[in-house]
Amino acid sequence: MLSNSLVDQDRAHLIHPVVSLRTHERRGVTVLHSAKGCEVTDASGRVLLDGFAGLWCVNTGYGHESIVEAAAEQMRRLPYATGYFHFGSEPAIRLAAKLARLAPPSLDHVFFTLGGSDAVDTVIRMVWYYNNALGRPQKKQFISLERGYHGSSSNGAGLTALRLFQDGFDLPRQWQHYIPSPDPYRHPEGPEPDRIIAASVAALRNKVRELGAENVAAFICEPVQGSGGVIVPPRGFLPAMQQACRELGILFIVDEVITGFGRTGPMFACEHEGIEPDMMTLAKGLTAGYIPMGAALISDEIYQVLADAVPEGVPFGHGLTYSGHPVSAAVALEVIRLYEDGLLENGRVAGEHLARRLAELADHPLVGHVRSLGLLAGIELVVDKKTKQKPAPDLKIAERAFETAYRNGLIIRAFADGTIGLAPPLCITVGNIDQLVDKLMATLDSLLERRELHQ
Ligand SMILES: Cc1ncc(COP(=O)(O)O)c(C=O)c1O
Repeated sequence: MLSNSLVDQDRAHLIHPVVSLRTHERRGVTVLHSAKGCEVTDASGRVLLDGFAGLWCVNTGYGHESIVEAAAEQMRRLPYATGYFHFGSEPAIRLAAKLARLAPPSLDHVFFTLGGSDAVDTVIRMVWYYNNALGRPQKKQFISLERGYHGSSSNGAGLTALRLFQDGFDLPRQWQHYIPSPDPYRHPEGPEPDRIIAASVAALRNKVRELGAENVAAFICEPVQGSGGVIVPPRGFLPAMQQACRELGILFIVDEVITGFGRTGPMFACEHEGIEPDMMTLAKGLTAGYIPMGAALISDEIYQVLADAVPEGVPFGHGLTYSGHPVSAAVALEVIRLYEDGLLENGRVAGEHLARRLAELADHPLVGHVRSLGLLAGIELVVDKKTKQKPAPDLKIAERAFETAYRNGLIIRAFADGTIGLAPPLCITVGNIDQLVDKLMATLDSLLERRELHQ
């Protein structure tokens, strides 16, 4: 009864993010009720292995009492403190210092947001202010990667190079440009890393030449393209793009909203190859999804330009009521303590096991490509391995894969193009990974039985 009334109220009043609105009305909401470790229980009592850590954010896993306690303790003591008017709170200050210590050495200053989209918006605003301050107001163009995702704010969604986020929203803006994704499976240069990297650097150089270096402010990318289908660029891609940005005199911004906090193994994906970006965005794993928070990290060089440009006594006009929220910061500090206290290490071991087990899927008739870095994986489905042909859109393979997996007790991400995304919590055990891959294999086998796929 309760569940039905919830479904009706949801249908009548709640607009869900990134769903087909009419499909959702017809289908109704799936209410989740509780969770512990890597398992989620829905309102009907079905227990599911969460292969996607909520929305690639619950990196610690669910139900950590110490996180709940950190939030409760902070709420009792000081539930809110603005950062305006020179006020601050201990957790926000300690968290900023902690992030500056953990992040690549190039990054020293932190502005807190509520999530990833406003972190991306923050870096856009800061880049503009920075170039205005330096007396080059025309240097405002941004370049991002095709299939990149940088949130859905009114400016960030134009750096997100996915049509879904742009069509009907009057995007991209004139100052937003793209270069091809370094996708090893479908790159026109083939899978050879050196060729993909050389082509990516050439594409960036050509785009900057076309726009004029004096007009280009920055290049932004994810270390692994998440929402574009979990595309893992070849090793060497990030250092080459960083080097090209330096030579071209444009800022290099890394969006670690998904890849941060152990998702790919180390605390930040930048660590794999010693990347030192000018700016970095964070969210998701920062608080493991227990409470909203994001961050924009910037270099000292940029900070000093901003600080010098704002006249004494005049505020820097960028603010959010909940920037540096003390409860979110207290949660983040405890979450980071858990990462450092063994979760990161568990995630590394689990990631290696996941890669080994996923390799078994490569022979499956529906699987075109398997890729992963740490506990972040993509399995691209095709109907013809040779031609790499994707299933026809009207087969709705993603929806079917999601629903079949759900019936098998597994939550996966199923991208509309037929790629399956995995990002389980870092607390996952080797045994849970075996279960996850077995359930996924069973899901693929049932999809294969569908006659439409063979026609
Ligand atoms: C790389 C990246 N940047 C930014 C965002 C936006 O973050 P949020 O949804 O917290 O606004 C996301 C969200 O998935 C993301 O994956």
